[in-house]
Amino acid sequence: MKFFIDTADIDDIRELAGTGMVDGVTTNPSLVAKTGRPFADTIAEICAIVPGPISAEVTATDADGMIAEGRKLAQIADNVAVKVPLTVDGLRACKTLSDESTMVNVTLCFSAAQAILAAKAGATFVSPFVGRLDDTGTDGMGLISDIVEIYANYPEFETEVLVASIRHPMHVVEAARLGAEVVTIPPKILGQLYNHPLTDKGLAAFLADWEKTGQTIL
Ligand code: G3P
Repeated sequence: MKFFIDTADIDDIRELAGTGMVDGVTTNPSLVAKTGRPFADTIAEICAIVPGPISAEVTATDADGMIAEGRKLAQIADNVAVKVPLTVDGLRACKTLSDESTMVNVTLCFSAAQAILAAKAGATFVSPFVGRLDDTGTDGMGLISDIVEIYANYPEFETEVLVASIRHPMHVVEAARLGAEVVTIPPKILGQLYNHPLTDKGLAAFLADWEKTGQTIL
């Protein structure tokens, strides 16, 4: 399972890259706006920190505009994945860019029907937003289950399921149980994956008992 980090914050990315757990990064216009920094510079810096796919989203809404923006973003670094929304124009742009061997992440996916279109358009990744579906009372992980099941029927579909809009560690666990290839995790939630009170309690007990031996390993 690949772990992408869902942020444009350089400091968070640099710190988490050191854990060896980061296989890529996803950004979106809202995450980039939060940084207050120039978009292209931010993407270039992220691409230099993390060698895996770095998603950079177009902001045009027409296919020709998305294609032009996507080609410009793809020139920033070889590991840029151009992000396009799941619209008619977005999928037209996806087809053109993927035919040019540019990685494409089709985002804002909220249905299995949309995910089928993304695969047919040659997307490298499709990003179903599970948290935002949960927020509406719809089963976000149910969508992941449907997409994984449907994609398994078609070997010609090479699109990886990139579970996005993750709200808590159980989204990661459920995505893994379902066989999604990628999760994109907010930094705070990646930190929560490590935590269990029994681990802390057990380690404290080990160290207290070791202390009593008066020994050292080095
Ligand atoms: O960046 C794509 C997606 O993970 C954002 O989801 O709901 O946290 O804004 P959300």
